[in-house]
Amino acid sequence: MSYNNILIEQDDNITTITINRPSKLNALNRETLSELHNAFVEIEGDKTTRVIILTGSGEKAFVAGADISEFSDFEVKEGTALAKQGQKLVFDFIENLSIPVIAAINGFALGGGLELAMACHFRIASDNAKMGLPETSLGVIPGYGGTQRLPQLVGKGKAMEMIMTARMINADEALKVGLVNYTVTQEELLPLAENLASKIIQNSPLAIASAIKAVNAGFKDGVNGYDKEIKQFGKCFGTDDFTEGTTAFLEKRKANF
Ligand code: COA
Repeated sequence: MSYNNILIEQDDNITTITINRPSKLNALNRETLSELHNAFVEIEGDKTTRVIILTGSGEKAFVAGADISEFSDFEVKEGTALAKQGQKLVFDFIENLSIPVIAAINGFALGGGLELAMACHFRIASDNAKMGLPETSLGVIPGYGGTQRLPQLVGKGKAMEMIMTARMINADEALKVGLVNYTVTQEELLPLAENLASKIIQNSPLAIASAIKAVNAGFKDGVNGYDKEIKQFGKCFGTDDFTEGTTAFLEKRKANF
């Protein structure tokens, strides 16, 4: 498939998706969101990718938010549909993908941009990164899961502060509050993402897919995370990966998944 607003690069089992609208600080317009959905579907279906890295083009921004020019004249019905569609097709979709997705935040991650990074399984950032949910300064609230995922990551009080003040935090503060796992220089950002990806690739993809399901279950309404863990744990025993992993350990060799 060919895309206008994203670049896709595959290197062995690692696929990097770069959001590529640098003149608009990679803001998420309708077409970019649709392309992201299609790309994730395509990559999950190709069965060769074991880790996805999501980043932004240029040195200034990961994603500076949803494209404000597209929704400034929306009314209630259209606003509701925008959030509903976006959550379903992109943000929830990424969170529930069976392949790990790492957000490599290379600059501004604001509004929908931070929400996109938060939908990924974990985040790393370059030291120039600035993160925030500035929606209340525009007279709206985060609509792509930000009011839910930010408190999950940084705690309710810090999330409330960030949403109410609309202020941006820098990479150091993001590291301190647990919003990102590492901060490095801009040059070191993608190599770090690739290094983490190469560690993930050494482990069972089926077990990782089960772990994603179990961890996510704990954050879903009406789903018992412990029950989901038991189910996924049991399921692992029926996989070739489990046979290979335990056999390799007993034979004192590295598992080959
Ligand atoms: N939606 C649409 N366009 C955006 C955008 C967004 N969220 N963020 C940036 N852009 C566009 C700007 O309009 C500008 O386009 P232009 O050159 O055609 O005028 C271009 O990207 C560059 O942005 P600019 O504002 O000139 O860069 P800056 O370095 O002065 O400021 C920011 C950077 C991130 C502080 C500023 O762009 C900004 O506040 N963006 C909006 C952030 C936001 O509120 N996001 C949440 C949306 S829900």
